[in-house]
Amino acid sequence: MAEILARASRRSEIAPFIVMDVMERAARIEAAGGHVIHMEVGQPAAPAPHSARAAARRALDHGRIGYTTALGLPTLRARIARHYGETYGVDIDPARVVATTGSSAGFLLAFLALFEPGDRVAIANPGYPPYRHILTALGCEPVLIETDAASRWVITPEALAQAHATAPLKGVLVASPANPTGTMMRPEALAELIATAEGLGIRFISDEIYHGLDYAFPAATAAAISPHATVIHSFSKYFCMTGWRVGWMVMPQPLVRAVERLQQNLMISVPTLSQVAAEAAFDGAAEMEAVKHGYEANRLILTGGLPEAGLPEFLPVDGAFYLYADVSRFTDDSAALARRLLDEAHVATTPGVDFDPHRGHHYLRLSYAGAAEEMREAVARIGDFLRRG
Ligand SMILES: Cc1ncc(COP(=O)(O)O)c(C=O)c1O
Repeated sequence: MAEILARASRRSEIAPFIVMDVMERAARIEAAGGHVIHMEVGQPAAPAPHSARAAARRALDHGRIGYTTALGLPTLRARIARHYGETYGVDIDPARVVATTGSSAGFLLAFLALFEPGDRVAIANPGYPPYRHILTALGCEPVLIETDAASRWVITPEALAQAHATAPLKGVLVASPANPTGTMMRPEALAELIATAEGLGIRFISDEIYHGLDYAFPAATAAAISPHATVIHSFSKYFCMTGWRVGWMVMPQPLVRAVERLQQNLMISVPTLSQVAAEAAFDGAAEMEAVKHGYEANRLILTGGLPEAGLPEFLPVDGAFYLYADVSRFTDDSAALARRLLDEAHVATTPGVDFDPHRGHHYLRLSYAGAAEEMREAVARIGDFLRRG
């Protein structure tokens, strides 16, 4: 009986996030006095903009922190809608904007609103692991579509149509800029993929969490391309608010009520203090742009320095703050290489196996969200490590 009581559900049998193991190992090295350069974690080192923190402080001092309506503070939803006009020149009805507890809760709400158990949903491989794990936990089937240099590491209309012909898909999710690859879809490629998906009756979800962090060319929003696309976004990355747990979705209008019902029941509402801070974060544009310029400088340090350090092969470093390096000339086991790099050179990276069950053993993901001097030091340490062999 005790065994039955202690047994977790089958749907919870999803893989852990290996990067967490790297972080724990790095913490042990630091506890012993080592100086670890953290390139494993995908989060900004900078705090939320001053405007956001000041607004939260004011709300704490003067206001009662109660629930908000399930779809979010009306002023926040209106401010987000305005952001679409200002950034992309597209008119979005605030009624389509839904505040979420980070984009992570956005995935949960969107998948529940869009899909039935058993539905097949296409995602790019390599990709952000929770896509497949959340889909799996909800009883949906993640369908990994392999991407490569020829497709510029994104899902092509042909690959989508082919996967759909094998067995019908109900959805496809893309991210541009993407994690772990840091690659982006050109606006024409995004528009073509959306047209193909919708022509086949496949629902389109666009994870736009890394928008704002685009260096190669401006990222396009799916919201400007189709009213049927679901857009998922977050204050975590560009706005430097990971721990505030606040994000948003732009839903197709007919599906807003379904999401509202789900949010009412699953979360009631998104933390009010975080919504207040998020609304004010839009006033911190100058600070956020300065942080972005820091990433741009880091990107140049890595793309300029890594080839000489011994890592000449990486994917196009278009956006977000990730560089995905091919380490196949050194190993068939990137997890072991990452462990040695951490133990011997005190540089923490994430092995590709976290993101790609098929070819991840040949890749390492390096986050360049840290300080410039750390990036220079990392390049030097990686060079010494690879030369030592
Ligand atoms: C591609 C991508 N989407 C979504 C998330 C989740 O972010 P959050 O829940 O903080 O908005 C992350 C976090 O790293 C990510 O890399």
